[in-house]
Amino acid sequence: MPLFVFPLVLGLSLLLTACPSEQSQTRESASPYGKNTATPYPLNPSPDPVSGSQIFITKGCIACHAVSQISEAKGVIGPKLDQLALTASQRVKGQSAEAYLRDAIEKPAAYLVPGYQNLMTPNLRSTMTEPEFEDLIAFLLSLK
Ligand code: HEC
Repeated sequence: MPLFVFPLVLGLSLLLTACPSEQSQTRESASPYGKNTATPYPLNPSPDPVSGSQIFITKGCIACHAVSQISEAKGVIGPKLDQLALTASQRVKGQSAEAYLRDAIEKPAAYLVPGYQNLMTPNLRSTMTEPEFEDLIAFLLSLK
């Protein structure tokens, strides 16, 4: 091999080894799922109901609430949440569905669903990041 080819080959192989790791890094940090849920806002610009349904499972809401579309959600301590978008818009006079749902999680005792006791875990909001909470609200609003 002539000597001048050597740096060329070296350069090329460096390039090739550098590429895959760079790619996988970009993919990981762009993902709204998995470890990176605490990603700052610009990377998670619009709330995602699908990831919200995962939050609903991982934060233990399923222990107390049933939702038909989630097979693991069979709890009976709290109300069934099918058609929640509609129910939530009618619970408190003058309060939008979204505002009601935020309150229902941040301060569950503020309004008690008729027939149910004040048994909802009060500090669930503090177990979530901002984007996780927004995804969860988007999921609840998608229950129609
Ligand atoms: C330990 C049981 C328990 C857990 C865990 C729990 N809830 Fe509840 N939830 C309740 C009960 C009981 C009520 C009814 C009393 C009330 O209104 O606070 C309720 C009410 C609600 C309501 C109002 C429903 C309506 O029809 O107006 C929403 C929304 C809600 N929960 C969402 C959630 C979400 C989201 C989670 C998970 C982050 C969760 N809950 C976790 C017990 C629970």
